[in-house]
Amino acid sequence: MNKAIKVGINRIEFSTTENYLTLEKLAEAHQIDPAKYLYGIGQSKMAVPTPDEDTISIAANAAQDVLNTMTPEEVNTISTLIFATETGVDQSKSGAAYLMGLIDIHPNCRAFEVKQACYGGTAGLQMACDMVRARPDESVLVVACDIARYQQNTPGECTQGAGAVAMLITADPDIIEIDAERGCYSADIMDFWRPNQFKHALVDGELSKDAYLNVMTSSYQGYLVNGGKPLDQLEWLCFHQPFTKMAKKAFEHLSAQYPEQMADKTDAAYSISQQYGREIGNTYTASLYIGLLSLLDNAEQDLTGQTIGFFSYGSGAVGEFFSGTVNKNYRHAINTLANQQKLAARTALSYDTYCQYMYQLRDYDQANIRYNPTSGSNFRLAAIHDNKRVYERVLEPMSKAA
Ligand code: CAA
Repeated sequence: MNKAIKVGINRIEFSTTENYLTLEKLAEAHQIDPAKYLYGIGQSKMAVPTPDEDTISIAANAAQDVLNTMTPEEVNTISTLIFATETGVDQSKSGAAYLMGLIDIHPNCRAFEVKQACYGGTAGLQMACDMVRARPDESVLVVACDIARYQQNTPGECTQGAGAVAMLITADPDIIEIDAERGCYSADIMDFWRPNQFKHALVDGELSKDAYLNVMTSSYQGYLVNGGKPLDQLEWLCFHQPFTKMAKKAFEHLSAQYPEQMADKTDAAYSISQQYGREIGNTYTASLYIGLLSLLDNAEQDLTGQTIGFFSYGSGAVGEFFSGTVNKNYRHAINTLANQQKLAARTALSYDTYCQYMYQLRDYDQANIRYNPTSGSNFRLAAIHDNKRVYERVLEPMSKAA
């Protein structure tokens, strides 16, 4: 591998739904103390997709936002579009192929989908980094999107959410250079899965928490063996975040296992990366990178030159520990105000409407159906016609960057 070439994230944008449910309302409906969800789980809101929103439409919003920052010449350097999801809409056709028909990308690229639970976004990112190391004139667009959905009235329900992240991977990136050193750990663990006949995930909650922490330790050890930086050289930590309490547990686990390396770290090292996730809920493949954006947008100090350690976990299970260094141009390359407005401008749903959107009207098994325009976003699922999903682009693109 050519480590001399600096590669990483040159652009990053996220999208989520325009509607959310507060966890207070969910606790009221479940007749439990709201403190369990707000502090025990550590979530305040969950993003709720309307029936005309799915992983393709939510992903298209984030991907188009990245393309809107690029010149036509820059768009032409995209050699590959990688779509990561565990909420796939088709067993054969990839979500990436659907995106090709919706966003302003050229057709001369390879477009495909990757899956390994919540790890898929990192699989895409690392594959993209290696592609760009091999061909530095090319760029890769990685889009990760999921709708986290559990059975109603189960412990997982409070950790639902929906969102996407799109990242442009290039040489000499403006936002963060991803180090070549990494540590991976994979094993066959039955902690979280979704058989083909199920619309929601099945989960062994306690096993999943233990598996997350054990896979993290093994991944970090592998990262060190492969030449990675010890924790005391990583100023910030971003964890895969199914709910914010899980990231807190990860931080505490590392502190217990490596007390000397963690001695100088306070909660601030990971908690700024939690702000967006607390408001959105689990986004599976996108969660780690929405955490990164939360850190970049909300850290008051200049992060230039600082190093971030990342832990990506996908149940089933695959983990990866890696790191990256923030570039001096990062503040110009991210849209902090727009990101904060995306969250501030959302609408709170009643519990009844949440139940309709999440459980009663989310039925895509019919061969022919039309969906009312309720999402309010730029891309939507308009219909299923003869078993073919039909998407609609509501708004024309913004003018391209000069
Ligand atoms: N006030 C404050 N805190 C309270 C409380 C109250 N009134 N009542 C309970 N709590 C606390 C509990 O003490 C507990 O805290 P600790 O974990 O620090 O001990 C916390 O609230 C949660 O309580 P429970 O453990 O009783 O929660 P639960 O069993 O009902 O559900 C869960 C928790 C198993 C994680 C469930 O939400 C779940 O199944 N979630 C989906 C699976 C998941 O996200 N797993 C994470 C690892 S796997 C992964 O990361 C991949 C992925 O994205 C899915």
